[in-house]
Amino acid sequence: MRVLGIETSCDETAAAVLDGSGVLVDLVHTQEVHAEYLGVVPELASRAHAEKLAAVVRAALERAGVDKPDGVAVTSGPGLIGAVLVGLAMGKGLAAAWDVPLVGVNHLEGHLLSTLLEPEAPSFPFLGLVVSGGHTSLYLARGVGDYETLAETVDDAAGEAYDKTARLLGLGYPGGPLIDRLAAQGDPGAVTLPRPRASGLNWSFSGLKTAVRSHVQGEAPGRHEDIAASFQAAVVDVLEDRVRRAVEATGVRRVALSGGVAANSELRRRFSELEGLQVYLPARSRCTDNAAMIANAGRLRLMAGQRDGLDLRARPSWPLAELSPPGPA
Ligand code: KG4
Ligand code: ZN
Repeated sequence: MRVLGIETSCDETAAAVLDGSGVLVDLVHTQEVHAEYLGVVPELASRAHAEKLAAVVRAALERAGVDKPDGVAVTSGPGLIGAVLVGLAMGKGLAAAWDVPLVGVNHLEGHLLSTLLEPEAPSFPFLGLVVSGGHTSLYLARGVGDYETLAETVDDAAGEAYDKTARLLGLGYPGGPLIDRLAAQGDPGAVTLPRPRASGLNWSFSGLKTAVRSHVQGEAPGRHEDIAASFQAAVVDVLEDRVRRAVEATGVRRVALSGGVAANSELRRRFSELEGLQVYLPARSRCTDNAAMIANAGRLRLMAGQRDGLDLRARPSWPLAELSPPGPA
């Protein structure tokens, strides 16, 4: 089954085509209008999606050599409501015009299942750490659509902490890749920063951000490289700590990372060196938002007979724990 995937939930306008043999085409256009605001401006994001999406979808189909796919998978949430609506309108319009099935995909499920696109994919059950700009959660994935939330952040997401720290250091947006690069030149032990804990397995990142701010505004902040490396070490430490605890609690040793922060060099290095665990990482380009992951999750649901109607709604907030295994309604 050849599936067209469409993703517009934040600031990436993306379209991909895949079939049972793998990803045929995966196009991502990152909006540049937000850089000067150091964050995504929702209204500008919707407008830029509306201007660009048709061309991105057309290019994806052309490059895949596909006139008409067998199904359309579109992100229907969570995300910026106006941005999601642009993709949803396109997905519905194409599915109706082609008379092919439509499925709305949860963006987080797209991330969570993104390692299934890799040559070495985890089998169920696995622990899925989704670390992105909007979410930081750890799930026990028992099967497609069968997810138990083991941990989440009680305040900022990990990616948000990266972006805010980058802003404190006078870097641009998105901050994650910039901190990643800067940290490579720094000493992770140079600045003492907290490893905050929340209840249970949960994370809290706002205290870490505040500690970085106090340090930067203090008398001798030192090199930005060292601050970036120290911040990054603290983030990776707390992510690793919860994953270890979850492995102990569940006995599940397969761990799949996903989301924009999973592109982080230090996170990838540390997790690939964890002993006794099988760690699965998406390709870096599949960590940040893309439509291949949406086509992948959508295809699994379409193949199981799931169909959405043209009354499919955008869901700006849509926890993964609310999903059900795929199947006819
Ligand atoms: O998954 P994603 O593209 O969008 C959301 O669903 O939120 O994640 C974007 C987040 C941003 O906060 C960005 O700063 C962060 O991922 N990010 C990184 C890296 N690349 C992207 N964080 C740390 N290191 C990176 N290399
Ligand atoms: Zn995302």
